Formats: sequence, structure tokens, C-alpha cells
Amino acid sequence: MRRRVGETAASKRTEGKSVKRETGEVQTKTRSSWWVWVKMGLIALSTLYVATPFILQFFPSVIQYLVYKHAVTYFVDLRRPCDLGLNHTVNMYLTSEAGVTLGVWHTVPEQKWKEAQGKSLAWYEQSLGDGSPVFIYFHANTGNRAAPHRLGVANVLSALGYHAVVMDYRGFGDSTGKPTKGGLITDALHLYHWVRAHSKDSLVIIWGHSLGTVVATNIAVKLQEQRNPVDAVILEGAFTNIKMPKGQSQPFTWYYWRFPYIQYYFSQDSTEANIHILLNGENLKKMTTPLMILHSKDDHMVPFRMAEELYNTAKSVLKSEDKVRLVAFDGSHGYLHNGLYRDPSLPNYIRKLINTIKPI
Ligand SMILES: *[C@@H]1O[C@H](CO)[C@@H](O)[C@H](O)[C@H]1NC(C)=O
Repeated sequence: MRRRVGETAASKRTEGKSVKRETGEVQTKTRSSWWVWVKMGLIALSTLYVATPFILQFFPSVIQYLVYKHAVTYFVDLRRPCDLGLNHTVNMYLTSEAGVTLGVWHTVPEQKWKEAQGKSLAWYEQSLGDGSPVFIYFHANTGNRAAPHRLGVANVLSALGYHAVVMDYRGFGDSTGKPTKGGLITDALHLYHWVRAHSKDSLVIIWGHSLGTVVATNIAVKLQEQRNPVDAVILEGAFTNIKMPKGQSQPFTWYYWRFPYIQYYFSQDSTEANIHILLNGENLKKMTTPLMILHSKDDHMVPFRMAEELYNTAKSVLKSEDKVRLVAFDGSHGYLHNGLYRDPSLPNYIRKLINTIKPI
């Protein structure tokens, strides 16, 4: 109703001006359709606001989407890593259990890029045993293995002369299945065993980022128990606990516009959310693997304080300053949660880690 009155008033006004009358009408129309969109948007937002607690209560699987955000995709053909500049990378698929196929990229050391052109899967598989360290990268929630910061890490490792193996867990990218806590661990262990089966005596290091750090520490503990330990672990942007002190937003939900019920959900001990999240602090109490923790001081999702806590836990367990290292990146670089792969000193830290664990 109000819109109609507004329009009439506006057209009366335009009638007065004979010149540019048409332009005036066009403007009125544009403004009124813009207003309709704003109103519809506001109605949608308030509906979502009211409906959120009910959705969470009755459809707890929605939490799965909120935690993993695996449905977020980048519009790339994951079968063609060469389109993204990775011309010495093979795309392949592994089956971690019945019905679960995982998309994996294997990038060989950069010095092999020419040799790698047009090579088969078998050539890549065999190259894992060439003596160069192999890094398995466990990515964070959201999106797939083609995200720019994930390509960035693969490029850094490859330029150092190392292999980089990057997987999409079940439900992410072109991998089949749905993400669950147990499923992610199963996938990660499967990939690790596959790499070990081809890497002969090469060092195998696992690198976890954000949500991937919990995958990394969980399998590190499991592999230690199986007496098949990883050679080192790198944790980037790792968190101690999903529960945040009062007043701080929780690392996985800060961008849900602080919907009150979502924050509440994640702060509970026994909710669906925590079923999906695994705790780093507890794992570090058991781990004896050499460890390097990377964290940017301006990380907006996981506070730097958490990296310090993890470092202290690891130090007290390992009882050695040589086996654990905390590398802090200054906030002035603006790396935030994903960007520390850009740091020019990062390759040195990685090389140093390799040198300390290398069997002499
Ligand atoms: C292939 O990748 C390597 C390593 O990143 C790069 O040095 C080289 O220039 C690339 N070659 C082509 C033809 O794109």
C-alpha cells in the first residue's frame, strides 16, 4: 500500500517537470524495486533468526554443514590441477572404505616438473620413493584442495624439493560420502598408509591446518600406538579446544553473524557440534613426535594464545626444546588464519625441521 502511495506521489512530482519526465519515472521504478528487495531481505533475515534454534534442534545434521562447510566449492575442475599452475601434479582417487572415494593431488618436487610432463599415475606413485621427504597436508574445513592457500602450501613444499600430497576428505571437493569425525580420521589414516606403502625410507611428515590440525594430531597418536609413527607433525592455526572463554567468538562460527543460538550450541559440551570436533590439547599430551607449531599473531579465527598453550603442553610432554618449536608470525604481515604460506622465511623453518629429524 505504502509503495503505491509513494509511487503516485512521485509521479505527481514528475508530472510537474515536463523535461526529463521519462528519466524521472525510470528512477522511481528503480527505487521502488530496490526497496522491495531490501524488505524481502529483512523478512528473510528475521525468519532465519527466529527459525535457527528450531532448525538446529530438529535437524542436527545442519551442524555438520556449519562445522565442515564442505558444500562450499570453488569452480574449478579438480581433475586438472595443471589449470591452476600445478603442472607437476597428478590427480588421483583412493578408496578409504566401501563407497568412499577420495580425491587426492600429488605434487612432485619442483626440479622434476619437466620430467613429470605427461607421466602416468604409476610414475608419480614410484616417485614417492625417490628419497625426498613427503608431506601429507590435511586441510581445514570449507571448500576443497584447490583453495588458493592450499595451492600455496603445495608450491612452497615443492619448491623446497619435497612431495606434497593433499586430500579432500569424504564429502569435500569431488570425494564421495559425508564428513563425520570418524570418517575424516579413517580417510587420513588411509592416505598415510598409502603414502608409507610407496615412500620406502623417505621421511613422511603430516601438516594440518585449522580443523586439519585435529585430524593430524589424532592420527599421529593412533600411528604412535600402532608403532608406525609419523616423522614429524606441523600444526598451522591450531586450536586447543572448541569451547571459548566467555565473550570470545568460537573459531568455527565467528562469521555466522553471531547468531545467538549457534554460539550457544557450540559452547555446549555434548552437542552435535562437539561430536564433530576433536581436541588437540588431549592429543598433544600423548604425542612424542617432533612438532612444529605455526601461528600468525593476527589470526582472527584462532587466537595466538592457543598456539602458546599447545606449545607449553607439548614441551612438558616431550621434555625437550629440540623436538618442539613454536614459530610466530608478526601480525603486521596480515596473514590472518590462512596466509602464512606467503612468509619468505617459512621455507627455512621447514628445512630446519627436516634437518633435525633426518636420520644421519
Ligand atoms: C611448471 O611449473 C614449474 C614449477 O612451478 C615452473 O617453474 C614452470 O615454469 C612451469 N612450466 C610451465 C610450462 O608452465
